[in-house]
Amino acid sequence: MGMKILVVGSGGREHALVWKIAQSPLVEQIYCAPGNAGTAALARNLPLDAHHIEALRDFALAERIDLTVVGPEAPLVEGLTDHFRDKGLAVFGPSRAAAEIEGSKAFMKDLFAKYRIPTADYRVFEDAEAAKAYIRYQEPPIVVKASGLAGGKGAIVCRTLSAALATVDRLMVHREFGKAGERIVVEEFLAGEEASFIALVDGERVLPLAGSQDHKAIGEGDTGPNTGGMGAYSPAPVLTPELHDKAMAQVMIPTVRALAAEGRPYRGVLYAGLMIDEDDDLRVLEFNARFGDPETQPILARMRSDLVPLLLASATGSLEGMAVDWDPRTALCVVMAGNGYPGAYERGAPIGGLEQAAGLEDVMVFHAGTKMDKGRIVADGGRVLGVTALGDTATQAREKAYQAVRLITWKEAYYRRDIGYRAVAREEEAAEEDAR
Ligand code: AMP
Ligand code: GLY
Repeated sequence: MGMKILVVGSGGREHALVWKIAQSPLVEQIYCAPGNAGTAALARNLPLDAHHIEALRDFALAERIDLTVVGPEAPLVEGLTDHFRDKGLAVFGPSRAAAEIEGSKAFMKDLFAKYRIPTADYRVFEDAEAAKAYIRYQEPPIVVKASGLAGGKGAIVCRTLSAALATVDRLMVHREFGKAGERIVVEEFLAGEEASFIALVDGERVLPLAGSQDHKAIGEGDTGPNTGGMGAYSPAPVLTPELHDKAMAQVMIPTVRALAAEGRPYRGVLYAGLMIDEDDDLRVLEFNARFGDPETQPILARMRSDLVPLLLASATGSLEGMAVDWDPRTALCVVMAGNGYPGAYERGAPIGGLEQAAGLEDVMVFHAGTKMDKGRIVADGGRVLGVTALGDTATQAREKAYQAVRLITWKEAYYRRDIGYRAVAREEEAAEEDAR
């Protein structure tokens, strides 16, 4: 009998996970809670949301689910995996104590300091006036972050001190991100190029996945407020083999050892957001306790290995000797969002052309905020689609992805037209050098 797998979450990342898991010969049935219109085609969507931890656990027990895979951070930070493991259920993801690495930036930064993991200089504050008194003596730009979870929107890069002071008020006084802003981290601004270093961890061992880069800002040229992510691609040209080794030696392995030493052994996805400067020095901007969204879409589009044994090995502490086989091509994902995101946006507009777009060769259309309404697929969230394409180069992957985007008919759509510009520029530079 094949395995029964439950995927928790409803975003593009979860559709990509379901899509990849569905290709495993080990798997018989997939459930997704709550899922979206995309997962519904491959899994049975359940009317349970990621916060209904007890109901999810009862479902997993009753249906004899062989493995539960948790997509988003919130249920991890709320202790979903602890509840499942208590009942003997296999679950992919860190414990509540280990997920603090994402759930509390204050915890993460203090861990970096204690174990000398390279990161930006920082101070933690629980009092707005104290934070402001400190900021007045800093040099801009400066970064102000809510310590708790804020959906990828809680880090604000401030170009001036007055903007930083106003941000402290937004987070601590007006509580724009609720309890997440009870504590804030104020840190030094780091210049450079970012990369996402995502690995599977089994408590001790670190199995890196393909490198990737995402575009967090809403606007072209990486301008404007941060979002969950407006596009991503893999591989990340900035992550050379040397930098990959450096990231393993200076960041990933020390962090996994540090968490074990702190009595919080880490199992699941460990995702480091790295900043790489001109001298190829790297520092950690953040850790996430889950797969990146949208990075997972291009990463899984390139993964040739069966994902299910890898997830099981991470969940059970047996990653030793495992390896991952990758498609050498580039995958690139363009996120289509509701107009207005990350602010207010409309829901309910019908979306057409999805089959035509997905029908192109090497194109996958991952759904995020979509649902079925009277037999039609309609927009139902901020980030709505992740149009992903493979190509021999980043330039070709990008052309293909935008070709697919243009086939999608949805009036309210907003998307960036410059996803992958750094990778494309590198390819253009390399071509010019070759021509010389
Ligand atoms: P975080 O949620 O901490 O990853 O921050 C979200 C985004 O804000 C990062 O991906 C960066 O683009 C930006 N950011 C955060 N911290 C810094 C920093 N210290 N220097 C420069 N940019 C930063
Ligand atoms: N794409 C950024 C994140 O998943 O946090």
